[in-house]
Amino acid sequence: MLRRLVQAVQLLTLGVVGACLVLLVIAQPEPAAPPVAMPPGVTIDPVVFGATVYEAQCESCHGKWGEGVYAPVTIDGAASLRAFPDPSGQVEVVRSGRGQMPAFGGRLTDEQIAAVVAYLRQLS
Ligand code: HEC
Repeated sequence: MLRRLVQAVQLLTLGVVGACLVLLVIAQPEPAAPPVAMPPGVTIDPVVFGATVYEAQCESCHGKWGEGVYAPVTIDGAASLRAFPDPSGQVEVVRSGRGQMPAFGGRLTDEQIAAVVAYLRQLS
């Protein structure tokens, strides 16, 4: 009688553990889209790195080459240099947004913002 009870408890435990294992395997959360980030220890020209950030985050509004998907959002290196003699002004727009331009401070690292600004400043 006791032996049966022990077997029943063992079976039940096995079942619960098995169910947990199955849940662990199938109930993994969706992996978040990988952010565009530079692996540690890798050095790369900021303009090259900035181009990858631009393509992922900015191109949809500003166009492949800064030509703008809609009129007011063109980005032109020469105009940028005039409007922002110091890159920090441009970094601020990207970090905090302006008008219809979304803020990227929460989405991109300082390094990514600096790189994408370096990329913008040589677009022409
Ligand atoms: C949802 C569309 C959208 C996205 C995405 C977007 N921008 Fe903008 N951006 C705008 C708009 C609209 C403006 C004009 C803002 C204003 O009203 O002054 C602007 C303005 C700017 C300016 C100021 C241009 C100037 O000469 O005054 C910079 C710099 C800029 N964006 C960089 C970026 C960067 C870098 C990214 C990607 C990290 C990006 N933008 C993504 C819409 C966008």
